[in-house]
Amino acid sequence: MLEWEELIKECSGCQKCSLGRTRKNIVIGRGNVNAPILFVGEGPGEQEDNQGKPFVGPAGKLLDLLLNALLFREADYYIANIVKCRPPGNRVPLDEEAEKCLPFLRNQVYLMRPQIIVCLGSTAMKYIVDKDAKITQIRGNWIERKGYWIMPTFHPAALLRDDSKKIQMWQDLKKVKQRLEELCQNKTG
Ligand code: URA
Repeated sequence: MLEWEELIKECSGCQKCSLGRTRKNIVIGRGNVNAPILFVGEGPGEQEDNQGKPFVGPAGKLLDLLLNALLFREADYYIANIVKCRPPGNRVPLDEEAEKCLPFLRNQVYLMRPQIIVCLGSTAMKYIVDKDAKITQIRGNWIERKGYWIMPTFHPAALLRDDSKKIQMWQDLKKVKQRLEELCQNKTG
């Protein structure tokens, strides 16, 4: 496994799949690298590609709004994606692209050692939890695996298309907040 500096260098020069040829910027992550929570999305969109940061477009603004409303602090989390380069037209990453990119995410998890991993949407759930699961069925339920607490929930972009999912994602993130508080209490108490 690489240290952060080397990992960023490797990602920045990566041409392991064809997404490397069309990206403007590599999108590695944002937030606190020592945070207890890792949020994982799908892949960069247009604004993320332009800015080199994940979740800075409309879906990201909605995610920030939810996290702020639930009183998460910026120090509580880090945000990354399954793939680090924008798929053309924001299509879902191909298996082959995700498989090439996942070792970078695994390296990030290794360096961060988060206690909680939140899968934002079905692509993150597919590669982190179960490739055959349905997000509508497993969301909101904790999965404990290899010492990580994993919470699958909707992708915030799904909320922009379907208002009725907002309350469900709110409930899921509330569980994450509660678990975070419990983990902090265990540490200090
Ligand atoms: N959607 C994602 O899955 N990731 C981003 O970074 C932005 C939008």
